[in-house]
Amino acid sequence: MKQTALITGASKRIGKSLALHLAAKGWNVAVHFNNSAKPADDLIAELSDKFPGQQFKAFPANLAEIDEVVALIPAMVRVFGPFQLLVNNASVFDPSYIQKTTPELFDIQMNVNLKAPFFLMRDFANYCKTGNIINFVDTRITNNKSNFAAYSLSKKGLWEATKMAALEFAPAIRVNAIAPGVTLAPEDKDENYLLNLAQSIPMKQPGGIGPILKSIDYILENKHLTGQLLFADGGENLGQNA
Ligand SMILES: NC(=O)c1ccc[n+]([C@@H]2O[C@H](COP(=O)([O-])OP(=O)(O)OC[C@H]3O[C@@H](n4cnc5c(N)ncnc54)[C@H](OP(=O)(O)O)[C@@H]3O)[C@@H](O)[C@H]2O)c1
Repeated sequence: MKQTALITGASKRIGKSLALHLAAKGWNVAVHFNNSAKPADDLIAELSDKFPGQQFKAFPANLAEIDEVVALIPAMVRVFGPFQLLVNNASVFDPSYIQKTTPELFDIQMNVNLKAPFFLMRDFANYCKTGNIINFVDTRITNNKSNFAAYSLSKKGLWEATKMAALEFAPAIRVNAIAPGVTLAPEDKDENYLLNLAQSIPMKQPGGIGPILKSIDYILENKHLTGQLLFADGGENLGQNA
């Protein structure tokens, strides 16, 4: 029987690459989206065309709204049955130093980046019982820069929740995290933005999507791995040497 993955925020960018990668390895994929209905539909069409023997379906949910979060996995299970992989990829990424942070900006980072993955992990454990969870954090969790204060805090929280869930759900479910660094430019920035940023990391180049896909493969293939964080960040977590 084919295995099925739910990827949140899968219609574009890293999430889309994950969907195409897993589908190429034989997985059925549930493509979660919020605003990107058209890209999600286009991706389902592309996946169905490339991999006709597999099942693909898009599921909408605003992960800032807890009612929609807790409805997502039951809706997916009604279509696919209990599934084998949850990837918490969807995220908001809003800059703000602590002194400028509004309660609204704080809440949206926490709700989408921490609360939603927390309850999706809960529901995966309760509905699916066995399999893998992979949470996307950020290499920023290793430093205390506050220019994205609420975002960084939400991802630090998600890493702590990853370890907690790994302990609670073992051995039936493995829970791991990936911390990308300089990977894709934000949608309103160009490639030079990324190249400039990469000058300050040890590997001096943006990593692109490859290291993330290799990290996914490693987590899925290494059946003894749980509660671990793989950095796909060109050494950024090491800090700077001068
Ligand atoms: N890109 C990088 O260089 C980088 C670096 C470090 C860490 N990461 C982490 O890697 C992951 C993927 O990065 P990315 O740059 O590909 O992400 P992204 O494009 O910023 O966001 C991915 C998706 O999240 C969804 N999302 C946002 N708000 C939502 C909400 N309220 N409800 C439901 N979905 C929502 C959006 O779906 P819709 O479009 O459908 O609304 C969006 O397409 C994220 O967790 C990010 O924090 C990325």
